[in-house]
Amino acid sequence: MQGNSIGTVSIVGLGYVGLPLALAFAEKGIRVIGIDKNPDKVKMLEGGRSYIEDITNKEIRDALDCFYPTTDVSLISDTDNVIICVPTPLSKTREPDISYIISAANDVAGHLRRGMLVVLESTTYPGTTEEVLKSIFEETGLRVGEDFCLAFSPERIDPGNKSFNVKNTPKVVGGVTRRCTERAVELYSRIVDRVVPVSSPATAEAVKLLENTFRAVNIALVNEVAQLCHRMGIDVWEVINAAATKPFGFMPFYPGPGIGGHCIPVDPLYLSWKAKLFNFRTRFIELADEINSKMPEYVVYRLFETLNEVGKSIKGARILILGVAYKKDIGDIRESPVLEIIKLILEKGGEVIYNDPYVPEFDFLGKRWSSLEITDEVLEASDCVLVHTDHSVYKWDYIAKKARLVLDTRNAVNGAGLGNVYKL
Ligand SMILES: NC(=O)c1ccc[n+]([C@@H]2O[C@H](COP(=O)([O-])OP(=O)(O)OC[C@H]3O[C@@H](n4cnc5c(N)ncnc54)[C@H](O)[C@@H]3O)[C@@H](O)[C@H]2O)c1
Repeated sequence: MQGNSIGTVSIVGLGYVGLPLALAFAEKGIRVIGIDKNPDKVKMLEGGRSYIEDITNKEIRDALDCFYPTTDVSLISDTDNVIICVPTPLSKTREPDISYIISAANDVAGHLRRGMLVVLESTTYPGTTEEVLKSIFEETGLRVGEDFCLAFSPERIDPGNKSFNVKNTPKVVGGVTRRCTERAVELYSRIVDRVVPVSSPATAEAVKLLENTFRAVNIALVNEVAQLCHRMGIDVWEVINAAATKPFGFMPFYPGPGIGGHCIPVDPLYLSWKAKLFNFRTRFIELADEINSKMPEYVVYRLFETLNEVGKSIKGARILILGVAYKKDIGDIRESPVLEIIKLILEKGGEVIYNDPYVPEFDFLGKRWSSLEITDEVLEASDCVLVHTDHSVYKWDYIAKKARLVLDTRNAVNGAGLGNVYKL
């Protein structure tokens, strides 16, 4: 590392978070080693192919001058900065599973050397960087702040968001020492317009959990209000859109079939788990989790009601689900509420088929599900179309015209005047 150069970067974990980050450095001419345990992903990248919707094959090909995808962790030792972007799921008992972080940290520790900066980006509970990573790294005999630097910087990437990307989304960083923070600020300043330093890694870890808890709680609030509005015969979307005209003090959130993805359903539970160690109960988080995770059940109840309108029962009914991804214009079905919805419909004796242009196939309940093309025949042969994900490519007018019945959980279908369209 010379002059004011930040040197080279290695990124451990090339998923939704790690890959865009690697490309952002490569775009600036910074040499990036991208390390992933999954050889299929590495092969695709080496061949100039992307597996993330927001990233084109061309972007990968253009980056390959500076970006070196590999499964070989030993290449970490050639780099000056290491960024860890591995998954942080929940265990079967819905507790934090930081085993990927520990495994990646052990790999990094094997190649840690003087002068390196290591940053953790995986979302996790406050304390992980200093309580877990620092001790793994210091077992090598090197000292944080003296021999190497360590920081946490939460990732804020929003897959499918066309307005905000790595560059124009401010990045929070918190280092173990002041020097660690300075190094991390220097690193991210190369690719991000605004870097926001905070006083510690635990603060930066808590920032991310507050952001996603804020979303989970507000989504739960509108999901509850949606259920109340339905009982009262009020259109909840009309209420929200009118409330959103208030120029201050209100931020619109919209109801839906439940929450999904790697972040909103998972992250708040990292915070509530840690809170318990402080003998503190995070009641907002628990309530939001309860309301949001019951939405699939409510959707199936509404399906029941919708079919009832035409004298049909769910038993024996064919339900065409549009969109299985957890949100629009992406192909991620992790934690997608659709999975619980499918399970419940099948339990009640219904039949499920689906279309999702972003998810051609997936495995669930011991079988492989394949997306069916939307045709007149498929629409006409379905007892009800359930709009689960409002992908932009769907032609709603056509769908509403051809479908026998529609239950729209996203307010996507403009069914005005068509008596066959029902909203959540
Ligand atoms: N997806 C998002 O929108 C998002 C947004 C903000 C934060 N995050 C957080 O970022 C982290 C990563 O999420 P993601 O969505 O990118 O996950 P992902 O599953 O898309 O990608 C993680 C990658 O890490 C690889 N991997 C796992 N263990 C590894 C190891 N030891 N060495 C090398 N590679 C390894 C996997 O093969 C995978 O390709 C999580 O903590 C998540 O909560 C995600």
